Amino acid sequence: MSNINEDYIEDYIREVIPESTGYLKEMERYAEENHVPIIHPEVAQFMKVLINIKKPKRILEIGAAIGYSSIVMVNSMGIEGKVVTIERRDDMIELARRNIEKYGYHDRIKIIKGEAQDVLPNIEDTFDMIFLDAAKSKYMDFLPYCIKNLAKEGVIISDNVLYKGMIANDDLVVRRQKTIVRRMREYLDYICNNPMFESSIIPIGDGVALTYKKEDTNE
Ligand SMILES: C[S@@+](CC[C@H](N)C(=O)[O-])C[C@H]1O[C@@H](n2cnc3c(N)ncnc32)[C@H](O)[C@@H]1O
Repeated sequence: MSNINEDYIEDYIREVIPESTGYLKEMERYAEENHVPIIHPEVAQFMKVLINIKKPKRILEIGAAIGYSSIVMVNSMGIEGKVVTIERRDDMIELARRNIEKYGYHDRIKIIKGEAQDVLPNIEDTFDMIFLDAAKSKYMDFLPYCIKNLAKEGVIISDNVLYKGMIANDDLVVRRQKTIVRRMREYLDYICNNPMFESSIIPIGDGVALTYKKEDTNE
């Protein structure tokens, strides 16, 4: 039970959306067996649809893990589409490199090694889409850099924003996760109420926020 949706809703959605095929399926199996958290199938599907609508040329991802979501995103982008992804763990980078190589995407997915909070200040490129999927208590710290590096009319997708239901219900909060809950609530309050943004919180997976940047604050 995810605490986000009733199991029957989640099961139904997973049944109805197309299953992954080929090597992506193997990556899903690897992630499950080795407890590597990757995007839920319904979130992957949501991102594919969004990428088809928005047609981003450049996406920045924070949190690569084994490269699964980077590959899902590139698969849906046009031939010139590129992803830059930040990851701090050497073992994950090694696996991500291997997986990206399998797809022949080494020219299209660039992995930057390091703590996102150290890497982000040095990124100068502009991105049409930013995918936040790393340290859940740090989204608020990442946000100024997302604003700086996001193109006008760009979108931010933030994963796990309902964090096992804890964000919406104090009764579910586990004591050692209190900081994550407090900081995620601050983040959601900011992206939902700052006039620069239009945001929607979508109860799929572990909760996804979709944020549209209305104004160009980079000028
Ligand atoms: C949920 S996993 C990413 C899953 C991936 N986006 C996917 O769906 O295939 C989060 C990853 O972010 C990395 N991470 C967490 N905090 C980070 C930080 N502050 N800087 C860089 N990487 C971080 C973790 O090592 C982990 O591999």
